[in-house]
Amino acid sequence: MEIKPQEGKKLGATVEGFDYATASEADIETLKQTIYTKKIAVLKNQDLSPQQFLELGKRLGTPVTYYEPMYQHPEVPEVFVSSNVLEDGKQVGVPKTGKFWHADYMFMPDPFGITLIYPQVIPTKNRGTYFIDMGQAYERLPEDLKNEIRGTNCQHSVRKYFKIRPSDVYRPISEIIEEVETKTPPALHPTTFIHPMTGETILYLAEGFTMSIEDEKGKTFENDLLNRLFEASGQLDDTFTHENIHLQTFEQGDMLVWDNRSLIHRALHTSAPEPTVSHRVTVHDSKKLYEKAAS
Ligand SMILES: [Fe+2]
Repeated sequence: MEIKPQEGKKLGATVEGFDYATASEADIETLKQTIYTKKIAVLKNQDLSPQQFLELGKRLGTPVTYYEPMYQHPEVPEVFVSSNVLEDGKQVGVPKTGKFWHADYMFMPDPFGITLIYPQVIPTKNRGTYFIDMGQAYERLPEDLKNEIRGTNCQHSVRKYFKIRPSDVYRPISEIIEEVETKTPPALHPTTFIHPMTGETILYLAEGFTMSIEDEKGKTFENDLLNRLFEASGQLDDTFTHENIHLQTFEQGDMLVWDNRSLIHRALHTSAPEPTVSHRVTVHDSKKLYEKAAS
């Protein structure tokens, strides 16, 4: 196994010669440290079935199956499928997922630490995923903004981007909304927490899922504080040229493994999309997303 930093990029490392079936415990530990410190590990030349992809994920932690069945791979439910390609005339998985800034499972009470994406069908142009390192984004906040968010919490919800399922057709919208709010009520997380693996302070909010920010007593800030945080961290830049934004590209055989604690991400889809399929596995590592809020 050989690990090299990505040339000319602050984030990311490429990993050559990784084989999940033969990797030693020491290799796995080295890979995890790379994920936590470099944020994205690109595993090169992977050629795996969905079941093998899941087995690879299990070397890094405990897989979490996506809570909505329509995203699950028909044979390996732990594998989440994003696809706009019909298989035998049938939709498998869900098209156009994640085209908004988010961390995976941010709207859940217990988000996982590591996300693995394994692109299957790769578009010829506009390939890639945007990332923002929210540890670095926190560092770059003006001091007065850092002071303003001390001790605050954020509410995160899936409600803005919950995708209507085939079974929802002909249901009243109010009933669907009520189901979403009951099944996935907003989750409360500290606005900044200490990354349990690196000690960094992470700004944990994203435009797609974060609905509100509140003080220690639970009183919602009615001002534009949340918007200023989205702006300062680069999430409102629709030209994607903000200094915090990193575009991670990939080629056939690459697997992206990233730190879901410090990175938020956003899929790159165009209005006339080419065929795109990718598989995802998500895992809890040895710790919770965070153990304590930053002070
Ligand atoms: Fe995602």
